Formats: sequence, C-alpha cells, structure tokens
Amino acid sequence: MTASVRRSSLALSIASLLLPVMASAATPKQPWMDTSLTPDQRADLVVAQMTQEEKFRIIRADFGQEHDGIAPPEGALGSAGYTPGIERLGIPAIQETDASLGVTRPGADKSGTISLPAGTVTAGSFDPDIAFAGGAMVGGEARGKGFNVLLAGGVNLVRDPRAGRNFEYVGEDPLLAGTMAGHAVRGVQSKKVISTVKHFVLNDLESGRNTLSSDIDPVALRESDLLAFQIAIATGDPGSVMCSYNRLNGKYTCEDEWLLNGVLKGEWGYKGYVMSDWGSVHSAGPSVMAGLDQQSAGEVFDKEVYFDKPLRAAVAKGEVPQSRLDNMARRILRSMFAKGVIDTPVVPSKVHYADDRKVAQRAAEAGIVLLRNQNNVLPIARNTRSIVVIGGHADKGVLSGGGSSAVADVNGSPIEGLDPQGWPGPMRYHPSAPLDTIKSLAKGKVTFDPGTDVDAAAKLAADADVVVVFATQWAAESMDNAHMVLDGKQDALIAAVAKANPRTVVVLETNGPVVMPWLDSVAGVMEAWYPGSGGGAAIGRLLFGEVSPSGRLPITWPKDESQLPRQTIQGGGLGSKEAPASHVDYNIEGADVGYRWFEKRKLQPLFPFGYGLTYTNFAYSDFETTVDASGRPAARFTLRNTGKTEGAEVAQLYVTAPGETSRLAGWRKVWLKPGESRRVEIVADPLTVARFDAKANHWRVAAGTYDVRVGSSATKTEGHADVKLPESVLP
Ligand code: BGC
Repeated sequence: MTASVRRSSLALSIASLLLPVMASAATPKQPWMDTSLTPDQRADLVVAQMTQEEKFRIIRADFGQEHDGIAPPEGALGSAGYTPGIERLGIPAIQETDASLGVTRPGADKSGTISLPAGTVTAGSFDPDIAFAGGAMVGGEARGKGFNVLLAGGVNLVRDPRAGRNFEYVGEDPLLAGTMAGHAVRGVQSKKVISTVKHFVLNDLESGRNTLSSDIDPVALRESDLLAFQIAIATGDPGSVMCSYNRLNGKYTCEDEWLLNGVLKGEWGYKGYVMSDWGSVHSAGPSVMAGLDQQSAGEVFDKEVYFDKPLRAAVAKGEVPQSRLDNMARRILRSMFAKGVIDTPVVPSKVHYADDRKVAQRAAEAGIVLLRNQNNVLPIARNTRSIVVIGGHADKGVLSGGGSSAVADVNGSPIEGLDPQGWPGPMRYHPSAPLDTIKSLAKGKVTFDPGTDVDAAAKLAADADVVVVFATQWAAESMDNAHMVLDGKQDALIAAVAKANPRTVVVLETNGPVVMPWLDSVAGVMEAWYPGSGGGAAIGRLLFGEVSPSGRLPITWPKDESQLPRQTIQGGGLGSKEAPASHVDYNIEGADVGYRWFEKRKLQPLFPFGYGLTYTNFAYSDFETTVDASGRPAARFTLRNTGKTEGAEVAQLYVTAPGETSRLAGWRKVWLKPGESRRVEIVADPLTVARFDAKANHWRVAAGTYDVRVGSSATKTEGHADVKLPESVLP
C-alpha cells in the first residue's frame, strides 16, 4: 500500500451521503424481501434473478476513496471499499470502512469519530460485556456514517511485543482473544452492520507482510492462531472473514484451499464470505477455487483486478464453474440478509459522540493495568499538596497507533505535525488530556512540564508530593518496532525524575511491553496502552481511585528481548533498510505462545500474563474441582475482598495436560465490595483441554490426569488439584 494512497484526501460532498433508501418489503417481484424466509433462501432467490454482469460486480469492491488523483467511484462514501447496489433487485451498495477501534476515514463529512482504546485494553478488561459495548459503539457510528460493512474483528495473536499491530489485536491467548473479538463482532453486528474477523491467518508480524511466509506445523496452528479465529467465529458469527497478506507455509492465505474451503467453510461450516485484504490477491482461478469470495480494491492494491477480466476468462474456459461464481455472490448476499443490511438499509444519522466517548472511557477504565504500586503511592489523595505531571503530551491528549485503524477524533487533533506524517502516520493523539482530569480531581497544586529538558523536569519533580510521568511508544500497521523500548530519551527522563523524587508514578502509553530499566526506582507503573478517546479521563480517574483498576495483562511482559522466541525482527523499525524475512519460523514456539513459551522455557517474565494490581486484596479459599458428565473440568472456590475498597478480581482457570504447558481454560471477573465474598465456579472450555488430532482431524481429550489450577495470573496459583479425565472426542 502506498503512502500517497493512504494520505489521499476525501473529496466527496455531503450529498453523496444521502444514499437511495431501498425498499425492504416483499413484493411479488422481490420475494426475497420476505423476512420470514431464511437468509439462505433469500440469497438463493436473488442469485436466481441476477445477471452475469451483476454477479461479476458484487464479487469485488473498489477502493472507496480518492487516490493518486483518481476520484472515488460515484456513490462511494470515501473510505476503504465500495460495491454499487443493484437497485432493480433492492440490494443496497456495500460501503466498507475500518475498523476495530473506531470508524476511520469517515467519508465526506470529515467530522471524525470516537476511538475505543487499543484492543489490548479491551482484552485486558477480561470482560466480554466491555468488548460487546465497544463493538456496538463502533457499529453504531459506522451505521450513522452510512457504512454497512466494518473491517473489524482483528484477532491475530500477539506473538511478539514489537509487532506493529498489537494494539489492534486482543492479546496472546486464543481463548481470551477469540472470546473478546467474538463479543466485539456481536456488538458491531447488533447494529445491523456486517463485521469481519481478520487477518486470516498468522499475519502476526508486519515486516514483509505482503511476501512473508509464516511457517508453522498445522497442529500448532490449530491450537493457537486458528483456535482464536475458531472461537471468535463461533462466538461472533461475523458476516465476513478477511484473508491476510502473508503466505502460510509458503502459500498465500487468500488462495489456500486447505485454509478457506477446508477448515473455514468445511470443518467450521462457515456460511459467510471471505474477502481479501487490500492487496492480498494474486490470482483469479486459484483464489476463487480455494474459497476467496470477494476481491477488495484490486484496482489499487493488487497487480490486477483478478475478479474481473481474468475471472471472466477462467469461467469462460470452465476453469471456474458457473456454480462457484453463483456461490460467491450467494455468500455475500446471504451475509447481507443475515446481518440486516438489506432489511434495514443504512441511512446516515446523528451520532451521539458524548455517549460514545463514555463507552470508550469505560473500556479504558476496565482494561488499563496497574503494574506496580509501592507504599500505596496510588491512589493519589485528592488533597495532595503538590503534584507534578511530566511528559507524554499529557497536557494535550493520549497517543494512538497508526495505520488503517487510526481514528481521527471528532474533537480534532490536539497536536499536529508529528512525524511520520505520511503513511503509516500521521502520528495522532486523541484530545483527552490526562492533565485536565488530574487538575479537576486534585485539590492541591498541579504543575505540568513537557519533559523535554530532563534536568528541568527532575528539578521540578524534586519538591512534589507525587510525580506522574507519561511515557509513550508509537507503533503502526505495516511496520514492526525494532525494539521493546520507549521512544526517544524517555528512559533517561524517568530515571532522572525518579532519582529526584521516589514518589514517581509512570503511566505508559505503548503498543506492547517495553523494557523498564528504571522499574525499581519508581513507586508506581500503570500501563494504559493506547487508551482511546476517553483515555485521559480514564487514566486520571484510575490514578485518583475514582474507579478501581481492574485490567489484567493480556500479554506476557518479558524482561527484555532475550526472552522472546525470536531475538530480532528482520526489517523491523520505521524505514528499515534491512530486507524483511521471507520466512518466519513459528515452530520455535508453535502453540506455546506467550505465557506458555515462558513456562516451557522456565523463564521468569517481568510481569506474567493475567497479572494486574487493584486498590484492594482478595483471598481464595475452599478450592474444589469437579468433572461434569461430558468430561469438562471445573474449579470452585470462594473469593473474598479483604481490603478496604471495592475492586475486581480476575480469577483464571488453567488446565495442564500431562507433559504439556498450561492453557487458559476460562476466567471470571468478579467485582466485590470490601468484606464481601462469593462462591465462584469456572468451567473449562473443552477446546482448551483437548489437543488437535491431525490424523483423525478432530479435537480429542486424551484420558489422563490433568492439573486444574486457579490463578490470579499465569504464574500465581491460588488453588489446584489433579483431576482424571476420560478420553473424549469433541463434536
Ligand atoms: C489492512 C486491513 C484494512 C484494509 C483496509 C489493510 O492494509 O491490513 O486491516 O482493513 O487495509 O483499509
């Protein structure tokens, strides 16, 4: 994807937002408008009436925005993709936009939208309702802006803290990621907007993503990245799945017959359509016969519009049967019926930004993680005499990641001109300034210092009662960071400030874990990731204990890069001159991603997966395990809030098969008032107990003795027992 394309201005008039509203009532001429029929029946009826030309049109989208001086197609809203409607049949246009965190490039009105916090934050909430609410918020804004397909549902596993799109994804564990992405998709689609899940599959690094082959043993793939998709699809039933840029074991995913026809549509019974990523199609016949149903913006991003002339030729020659072309159109229409975009056509409408900002803020409050809190430096007492806030543009806003998912906030950009300004920039901040909330909550003096002069900042910090230093690390689509470090000289700034005043709290706004050479010298650390349009308010409220921190790490926090499966990322770093790898060997860790890798290698991370502090304490007691009639293990225990404030515990169930590493099998987030206790049960998800049996091609639980453990993180055990499980095969 070229910089110029991504930088294109959107030159459409408001008038183009006023799409024709299609009729949705059944008539003798349009029997498919009968809502009592199934989506399958309705799609069949439409396909039977479509001309060959109409079929060839619906299976490709054009780039929906102006690029390289070429105007967008008529009727397009100025975003990622557009396919004209078929007015005579009552089928509306397809209007596609990015993405998981919010509506990007929102068309002609250019007014901006609201951004959720990073997917890492939503994942860290360990709360499916938060994921659903976020999806519903973005889905509602998409609909309000006139879009009916949202390119959301990013569920690639975080295998490397430096990977550029970690902020779009939902952590390292397949059950957590699949569950949270699935609920986000449900939220989007509750607004009658089709959601994707993406990028199918193993697009886990950005460097060389268009050519790189992700190499992995198929069983390890089933038990890791594919499992995340399997769970997300089963939970969210997305209308579409987006195949990825990369190759999988040498084959482009968008022409991988095993992956698309075999696993997705065959074994999983997926009934929606597969769309390509923008520039991920390399053929007509092979892609179509492998299971790709729709080409995205091929005229801009692929070598050819394969699904036009080349595909027509392939059909004419009989290389692609007519029935397959019909099936492609049918799958697209089926999702349009099933998700309500035909019965309830999008009509641009008022978006309630203030309400939506609250949704984003609540997500941030639920998922930001408190990593360190020495001597109860937090929460900050409101009557603290003097607070010094330093760095990170905390007086203006909070950092956002870059690339196609970057949202322009409806309240504008508080800082302009930050590099890189071209793709995958511009580097954006959302105008939710932590300093504003800190000032509004503090009764004493609050002073801000930009942190650009280390000595001046340290001098100012010396006299304060509490110091809060904001530190950032930018990341973006299409590149990986070369190292897990903060940008610029921020480590030196933090070290100097902490030396001047040990009551220093660091608030991180990063894409992933970073090294913290100054950790022992600071009193507190809070990881806010990219906290979104309500991020500043959320951070301020968490710092003062207006809301209790309840997020947990959805990614293991390594001490440094030496603990990672791959020490370096070839071609990593913005503008790297090094050629990216042509193959990445994911067999190094296989399915032992994240905490499982650390367990296997007996490595101590800096902070484990599932870890996070609160402003209270919890006690576990009366632990017991059970196995139900279908062989599912479960744990029961009593959880008690032993502290003085309300708070949430995220109790995590890990199951370990004989000779294996442990796997997260379930969790419960439980809010308790001081002194309150509750009996909690967590039942294991069978997919996390079973192994994939490649020979028999099914999931099988081997008979044996399994360790069933409840922990407050991947490494802190609160109770465990051995259970005997019988042999079983999952349906
Ligand atoms: C990204 C997708 C995105 C698409 C459309 C691609 O570069 O990989 O996630 O949906 O662009 O903007």
